[in-house]
Amino acid sequence: MTDAGFGARILELADRLAEISESPDALTVTYLTPAHRAVAAKFREWMQAAGMSVETDALANLTGRYAGTDPRAKTLILASHYDTVVNAGKYDGRLGLLTPLVIIEHLHRSGKKLPFNIELIAFSEEEGQRFPAAFIGSAALTGKFDPALLETRDAAGLRLGDVMRETGLDPGEIPTLTRRGDDLLGYLEVHIEQGPVLLNEGLPVGVVTSITGPLRYEVTITGEAGHAGTVPMALRRDAATAAAEMLLAIDQRCRAVPGLVGTVGKLGVPGGTINIIPGRCEFSIDIRAPDDAVRDVAGADIVAEIERIAGRRKVRVETKEILRMASVRCTPAVQQLFSDAIVRAGIKPYRLASGAGHDAMMFDGITDLGMLFVRCGNGGVSHNPRETITAEDADLGARILLDVITNFPAA
Ligand code: HGY
Ligand code: MN
Ligand code: MN
Repeated sequence: MTDAGFGARILELADRLAEISESPDALTVTYLTPAHRAVAAKFREWMQAAGMSVETDALANLTGRYAGTDPRAKTLILASHYDTVVNAGKYDGRLGLLTPLVIIEHLHRSGKKLPFNIELIAFSEEEGQRFPAAFIGSAALTGKFDPALLETRDAAGLRLGDVMRETGLDPGEIPTLTRRGDDLLGYLEVHIEQGPVLLNEGLPVGVVTSITGPLRYEVTITGEAGHAGTVPMALRRDAATAAAEMLLAIDQRCRAVPGLVGTVGKLGVPGGTINIIPGRCEFSIDIRAPDDAVRDVAGADIVAEIERIAGRRKVRVETKEILRMASVRCTPAVQQLFSDAIVRAGIKPYRLASGAGHDAMMFDGITDLGMLFVRCGNGGVSHNPRETITAEDADLGARILLDVITNFPAA
């Protein structure tokens, strides 16, 4: 495989993975569904064909190991996630798996080994779509898994712990999965940018400086169901109109501070119907900011405002915090390795922060970590089937990762 073919191969394999989905007309692969298991099986096959020994762990993470010349040497982790959001694009997560895969295929074909071991890790659950349990694949390998998440349930009411066991996974093994920092050289992740910055700069790749941590809540409003035709407006305890006022309050609060973002991605009236005043309404909140303190103040303000609106509208509200991740700085020395490789590739080095969260964050405090972003087309759109990259940019990303790995300090 010549270097020029890395990009074409990455896009071809991404297309093949994207043929596996939970729905016929969209790409959706959520935790432990049959489609999720089929993607894992396909990726395991490709890793084995590339000369890796492959293990599946208690979270259904796949770890492919490409041993170096000195088996006692430390290990460099190359990773990302294979689950997707609902109605996803083809490259979120997958680019970060297929890029190391094609590099290891190349090393294997040319019989080249490195002075250290490489592990390609395909994390099983990063997006938290089926269960409100995001990043648990990488959390389990870094000693940060919260066992309480085993009690979370999906839309069908199935409990996470039960679904894991029915899939043949044993949550009891999770504590044994924690990786020791002393065994690791570092953690590298290639990911699509999921935004327009590189596109607007006219650059194919960029070095990630920091990764923003999300703050997430689940909100449940309880009012009183009633007849749509007989209850005067002044007597209603309508859960949905209370939610509507809360959503606008969230939007206004987050517009007030540059860089602060707030999203209500899930919103519903369980069992709602056309002629019943909504007695119950549920929604999610995701708040982020480059500075965690700004995010946390906004979160506290929003929770307080939701309570005030509920009081005025005589409805009950339960606001449950489900995730609070600290933003993470990418290791400066690893940023420099990526920047030097970009210069060697004849490209202007450019550094940017990530508004999206990534598995890399979990390795903060465990080992050195760095990320390389690859340009997104279609205005930088992501978490959307219009997500797109070019073979040329994917090829450049692979060649830069190969350069960084080849020059990575082995001790
Ligand atoms: O939400 C995120 O930032 C990531 O896509 N899971
Ligand atoms: Mn994502
Ligand atoms: Mn991702």
